[in-house]
Amino acid sequence: MSKEKNSYLFTQHLSVTRQNRETHKGNKAFTLWFTGLSGAGKSTIASLLDKWLFDNGYHSYVLDGDNTRLGINSDLGFSKEDRTENIRRVAEMCRLFNDAGIITIASFISPFENDREKASAIIGKDSFYELFIDSPLETCRKRDTKGLYLLAEQGKITDFTGISSPYEKPEKPDLHLHTAEKSPEDSLIELITWLRQSSKLL
Ligand code: PPS
Repeated sequence: MSKEKNSYLFTQHLSVTRQNRETHKGNKAFTLWFTGLSGAGKSTIASLLDKWLFDNGYHSYVLDGDNTRLGINSDLGFSKEDRTENIRRVAEMCRLFNDAGIITIASFISPFENDREKASAIIGKDSFYELFIDSPLETCRKRDTKGLYLLAEQGKITDFTGISSPYEKPEKPDLHLHTAEKSPEDSLIELITWLRQSSKLL
């Protein structure tokens, strides 16, 4: 899109503010950004947390790589450029969800530090928390829940994270969950304890 086109667009301010919606829903809105290898446990923990938040009266939603790639991002593949665009679009969605007062759990490999930094800038750094869902590559390969590591090693899937495409570990995540050493339920407890201790839940 050319600059010229953008210069004829105007931000429309809504009469109901994010704060109004947060007060109405009784929770602060923010984004928990899960990053980690395929098979590290992102989707499992995201789903457990979403269920816990729901059961406890919070308004939350999970955005997950597989699901969004089957829908809004179905035109994107796994080249570096496509992953960058994937994360940019998802970050824009998180921003809108947060504006709607929703605690948003974004579960994406998001392998590039630069893309995660851009996501933080789009969402707003005060609303963005980076959670490293960390299992060693060897553990993820052994689990191979979707059979994708085998296909990647056979060369049937290209640009596969950890095999034929890099994963840049977060340097200073807000929370580092070591998922190889504990059950998803124990990771959930660690996550909820962190949310409570850092006063993110009203
Ligand atoms: S990214 O890197 O953030 O843009 O990826 P994401 O949107 O999270 O999508 C990851 C899921 O896509 C499936 N899949 C692949 N992952 C990595 N590399 C390649 N080449 C690939 N092809 C398909 C896979 O199911 C990923 O889901 P998870 O939950 O991470 O296993």
